[in-house]
Amino acid sequence: MKNFPISSSEITPKQVYLSRRDFIKAAGVVAGSVALSACGIAPNVVDPVSTENSVQPTEMIEKVNTFEEITNYNNYYEFTTFKEGVAPLAKDFETSPWSVEITGLVNNPGQFDVEDLVKKYQPEERIYRLRCVEAWSMVIPWMGFPLAKLLTDVEPTSDAKYVRFETIFKPSEMPGQRQPLYPWPYQEGLRLDEAMNDLTLLATGLYGGELPPQNGGGIRLVVPWKYGFKSIKAIIKIELTAEQPETLWNLIAPNEYGFYANVNPEVQHPRWSQRTERRIGEFSRQDTLMFNGYGDQVAHLYEGLDLSINY
Ligand code: MTE
Repeated sequence: MKNFPISSSEITPKQVYLSRRDFIKAAGVVAGSVALSACGIAPNVVDPVSTENSVQPTEMIEKVNTFEEITNYNNYYEFTTFKEGVAPLAKDFETSPWSVEITGLVNNPGQFDVEDLVKKYQPEERIYRLRCVEAWSMVIPWMGFPLAKLLTDVEPTSDAKYVRFETIFKPSEMPGQRQPLYPWPYQEGLRLDEAMNDLTLLATGLYGGELPPQNGGGIRLVVPWKYGFKSIKAIIKIELTAEQPETLWNLIAPNEYGFYANVNPEVQHPRWSQRTERRIGEFSRQDTLMFNGYGDQVAHLYEGLDLSINY
């Protein structure tokens, strides 16, 4: 059994699928070529042999969160720490045109327009669980392409061991950045092999449409087996490095937010348990899964590493 994401249209009963199409229209989502596959039922553990007419057994199906939920309950400290307040504050934030600089230990550095990246790498739909370190979660139908495609093209040198990501710094439009409480700009990092894993996505859209500013447009990272804070938004710089990069949360509270930040129900946050989570839109809590349920694809990356120390 694998967790490889497939298009939700492949597993959604037609009736549900059709009513979702109406929902998507009502939500005003711009229909792209794949818009109609952004439906309301996501496989929990997706069985790649699923066909259009075979629906997963109930216990293996998870509901995709609604467009409303995904775009109105956000963590984005550059705007505000109040989750419901991000969308209104971000609504005029300019996300297009957007470009990303790729620099550091690569043979082909450069400045890349997101529009060109989209043309070149043809984003696909990936339905992923997002587990925030604060113990809430969602299921989100992203549009994006594997970071590995871009990294392969820029050719990391043999010295490159890590990838560092940096968010735009624009205090004139991002009121949270006018508060000196955090060491702006937001930065994050991955080991190069984590960055090259096929699950690691550069997201350019969701629900078949564009990536709303509150969700990290122009372009953001999505690393579904790690706590949500690793999935850095509004990236303007990607740097290949030899040393482990600093990360914003690790700088602020190294005992609470490690570099790895793999979802792990066994390692509790100093201030709360990570055993369960609250899925936005649902009442009861559910068990948190090791690696957020993506162990088949990523557990091998951590063989021999003590995850209770390397949290
Ligand atoms: N990226 C930036 N630049 N700033 C942030 O505050 N918050 C992180 C992550 N990426 C954050 C960020 C956290 S804690 C989470 S849980 C996710 O974004 C939330 O993503 P979402 O709002 O799209 O659900």
